[in-house]
Amino acid sequence: MALAVDDIISRCRAALDEHTPVLAVRDVLDELVADAGALDHALGPVEVGGITTLHNAADLTILRVAWTPGMALNPHEHRMWAVIGMYGGQEDNSFYRRASGGLEPAGGRELPAGDVLVMGDDIIHSVANSRREFAAALHVYGGDFFNGDRSEWDFETYEERPRDFERTRRLFEEANARWREEA
Ligand SMILES: [Fe+2]
Repeated sequence: MALAVDDIISRCRAALDEHTPVLAVRDVLDELVADAGALDHALGPVEVGGITTLHNAADLTILRVAWTPGMALNPHEHRMWAVIGMYGGQEDNSFYRRASGGLEPAGGRELPAGDVLVMGDDIIHSVANSRREFAAALHVYGGDFFNGDRSEWDFETYEERPRDFERTRRLFEEANARWREEA
């Protein structure tokens, strides 16, 4: 039977009952991203950048995140574990540490399709799509991603501010408009 969104949700929810949920979710995503065609079929093809919520509960959030070519999301924290499974294109992750006056860079990781990245609950990262194709990923979080206090940081000044989803939505919109013009 073809993979459905409900299967993705139930497999991730079942992982929460395992001894170490974050690693069980990693195993689920390892399996899912190995078949990008099945995910494309279940989630629909990516035609525009944005965040699609597949599941949002107090203990688990599952998103399909599509990064527009050329876009970059400023540093932010989640305050919960997160697992990213790439199934199209590539996401470039940069990591940061808190430092006096804001942040300092702390390495990075390129995540091509088929790769899965586990992040602890104290990770601060920014994400960029430097390729000329959409990047498609499943993002799974061990909590309610959309509610609760969290910080983000300005890309240039590293100044800390409250996380602002409206600003993020505009970033996607601007990137989509730029890409439409170029394409
Ligand atoms: Fe993130």
